Amino acid sequence: MTQPFHEQKNNQVSEQTNEQSSNKTNEQMNRQFGEGEQQTLIIAHRGSKGTHPENTMVAFLEALEVGAEGIELDVHLSKDGIPVVIHDETLERTTNGKGWVKDYTVEELKCFEASAEFGAEHKEATIPTLEETLEWLASTQLLLNIELKNGLLPYPTMEEKIVELVNKYSLEERIIFSSFNHYSLVKLHQLQPEIETAILFMEGLYEPWNYAKSIGAKGLHCYLPVAQPLLLQRAREEGTPVRPFTVNEEAHIRALIQGGSSAIITDFPEKALQIRRSLA
Ligand code: G3P
Ligand code: MG
Repeated sequence: MTQPFHEQKNNQVSEQTNEQSSNKTNEQMNRQFGEGEQQTLIIAHRGSKGTHPENTMVAFLEALEVGAEGIELDVHLSKDGIPVVIHDETLERTTNGKGWVKDYTVEELKCFEASAEFGAEHKEATIPTLEETLEWLASTQLLLNIELKNGLLPYPTMEEKIVELVNKYSLEERIIFSSFNHYSLVKLHQLQPEIETAILFMEGLYEPWNYAKSIGAKGLHCYLPVAQPLLLQRAREEGTPVRPFTVNEEAHIRALIQGGSSAIITDFPEKALQIRRSLA
């Protein structure tokens, strides 16, 4: 019988029993987050950032429609403490608003257009709350990588709020938490160890699977140049999923699929899926 997810040989820090995990089917276990020998999963970065307004429902719907297995999105907290889906701390780049996300209530944030450079086509796009996104996601089969954008602003209680929402929609088995703030990953792991955490990193950490395990994390979400063949091979031997970002060029997509990357995070899920099919 397959071991529960969190008890597999490479997750040394998980001490708690996990009844939910032990109820998972093998299919769920294998589908989860690109482990084992299965094909490289395609995760749509900020929805489908390359073709639709990033981190908006229209981008998430596009990811679903083209057949991506998962979505990655970014979360901040509004002035009234609600987790909202947007990449930057500030509004200027992706919306017609000005200033800091943290200085507006959700009601105020909802008044901005979030269509950025796709404005002509998608004027209706707004900043989603995480809750709206999870409610929708629950009706799909998609995996979701929630990136906590708490590297610059600490957002006290952000982790508790996000875990509570994931529980509310019973999405624990389809979520990966990631962050460049690894203190936050430790907190998330302590709050709910059965939800996978993954370290985000940009540089050539030595044997990052060992470090990840030491903080209760499972996945390696590395900057594309770090995802060299040796790292992919060693991580695979360690049973550690690698999901590089942001993989947009055909040659890189091809190389990572052929190199056995567990998943790739891409702005162009449709293109990545075509390439994957062509290699099958
Ligand atoms: O989670 C992968 C990737 O999104 C991390 O960088 O800046 O695009 O959020 P960023
Ligand atoms: Mg991100």
